[in-house]
Amino acid sequence: TSALPSGYTIRELRKTDKSEVLSVLAVLTTVGEITDSDWDERFEYISKHDDTYTILCIVDDKGKVCATGSLIVERKFIRNCGLVGHIEDIAVAKDQQGKKLGLRMINALDHIAEKAGCYKSILDCSESNRGFYEKCGFKFAGIEMAHYY
Ligand code: ACO
Repeated sequence: TSALPSGYTIRELRKTDKSEVLSVLAVLTTVGEITDSDWDERFEYISKHDDTYTILCIVDDKGKVCATGSLIVERKFIRNCGLVGHIEDIAVAKDQQGKKLGLRMINALDHIAEKAGCYKSILDCSESNRGFYEKCGFKFAGIEMAHYY
């Protein structure tokens, strides 16, 4: 159940992925004007905290980034100092949607969370994506609240 379509591979984000990954993320939301130094600084932080952050990319046979997704491992006191995986920023390039890349991305992040010792992984999504996450094995678990600043 976990094979990518032929020619695609999944790997961790690289520093050289800047322009390709940011254009994939633009299908999700506003990315903003990210300078090379903004990118480098954030990339270094994420790399240094690799027990907390995992950012994956699915690339095609030419090495072009087609999909991305993130996992953040939260360290709690409850549940015996339990760990919770937060799945964030899942995006598949418009012309690559419908090839199961999103599903494979979620499977990969889920696997990393489980291996890291998380007792669950959670995510927020719009009603229009509910069917996708149900196909990925997630169950409806309440409502999302936000306070924007
Ligand atoms: N509603 C219902 N079912 C869906 C949807 C949807 N919106 N999208 C895909 N599916 C189904 C597919 O039909 C497929 O079903 P099947 O196994 O019966 O054939 C299954 O879910 C897997 O679909 P994939 O091909 O893996 O989906 P895709 O690669 O297109 O990725 C995604 C789905 C991530 C939602 C993609 O369309 C996308 O990037 N959308 C724009 C950005 C976005 O909304 N990202 C998610 C935000 S939420 C978050 O980041 C936590």
